[in-house]
Amino acid sequence: MSRIKTVRQFVEEKLKSLPSDKRNKALAHLNGVSMAAGIIADKRGENVECACIAGLLHDMQAYTSGSYDDHAHLGAKLAEKYLKKLDIVTEEEKEMICSAIYHHDDKASVDAPFDEVLKDADVVHHTMADPLKPVKEKEQARYAALRKEFGFE
Ligand SMILES: [Fe+2]
Ligand SMILES: [Fe+2]
Repeated sequence: MSRIKTVRQFVEEKLKSLPSDKRNKALAHLNGVSMAAGIIADKRGENVECACIAGLLHDMQAYTSGSYDDHAHLGAKLAEKYLKKLDIVTEEEKEMICSAIYHHDDKASVDAPFDEVLKDADVVHHTMADPLKPVKEKEQARYAALRKEFGFE
């Protein structure tokens, strides 16, 4: 089984006990960000598989605890725990994935190129999953840069 599929099944299992509306919303976001992260990583020459895995895990702290308080930093620790348990990534890959999750809420700053892939993938799902929804002010700069990068304007 592919590593991405292994993580997807793991996430689905972890979120099984959520009420169905919350679970559906969570899985739509995690899968949406995962796919966007893969596309962005491919475009930028970053690790596509790790980007997809980071996308699948990035908000698990919020969904499993029901709180967004410090969810990126706590989420990096949680992802580390999950990845240790799954034992499917190298130490280097685990550090890369956890770093991206740690920084993913710092949308106003620029971090390492792989960290930026996850931040931008999060913005893609927040904005492009419903193109009629107004783009939040804090995501406008990244959204505009992404449209330009992908040749949309
Ligand atoms: Fe988040
Ligand atoms: Fe997110």
